[in-house]
Amino acid sequence: MNYKDYPNVFVNTHPLVQHKISLLRDKNTGTNEFRSITEEIAMLMGYEALSDLPLEEVEVETPIEKCRTPMIAGKKLAIVPILRAGLGMVSGLTALVPTAKIGHIGLYRDEKTHLPHEYYCKLPSPIDQRTIVVCDPMLATGGSATAAVNFIKQHGGKHIKFMCIIAAPVGIEALMSAHPDISLYIGHVDRELNENAYICPGLGDAGDRIFGTK
Ligand code: PRP
Ligand code: URA
Repeated sequence: MNYKDYPNVFVNTHPLVQHKISLLRDKNTGTNEFRSITEEIAMLMGYEALSDLPLEEVEVETPIEKCRTPMIAGKKLAIVPILRAGLGMVSGLTALVPTAKIGHIGLYRDEKTHLPHEYYCKLPSPIDQRTIVVCDPMLATGGSATAAVNFIKQHGGKHIKFMCIIAAPVGIEALMSAHPDISLYIGHVDRELNENAYICPGLGDAGDRIFGTK
């Protein structure tokens, strides 16, 4: 199935997001700048991904009179970065929803097999009533994303949104065919994977670029 046929896959077209992704791609963009642009993209994409957050009416007294007015039912959100690179998106999202709880899933890809290995999982409990935003800048083979959503569902998570900055078509298909019930928010869909399962043209290794390793 072509990813365009999934009704719950949303590919961002905003000029600001596209511009900032191009800055990330540039190999001359240094760690400091890479980190802050990643945060900015997460915030801009979060604005769209959270457009259906539940609201509740609260009473507020304006200088003129009391009124009932909508506010986010804020305790209901969990942000779950996939370590390491997903950490780079957390502050952009918590800037939007400071009351969100934060879980962590530690996964790394085996360099030879490209399969994900879990090394950490800690989620806010109970998770079943929350909207869960999983974030990772890169969706390549889709193995890490699929494993992360598996863990979250095993812990009882139900309302799952996945945010990535760059995705490969094969990764979108892998994730959405395994978990057709989630919503997937993508900054840009790239051409393909290379023989090392890196996204082309991509931006290289997101974790290394965010943390200045390698
Ligand atoms: C990267 C990236 C994703 C994963 C995507 O993490 O941040 O988690 O690869 O690849 P996949 O779709 O083929 O699974 P990596 O395993 O390099 O770990 P790191 O974030 O610790 O660098
Ligand atoms: N992980 C990355 O960080 N980059 C890729 O291109 C693929 C997986």
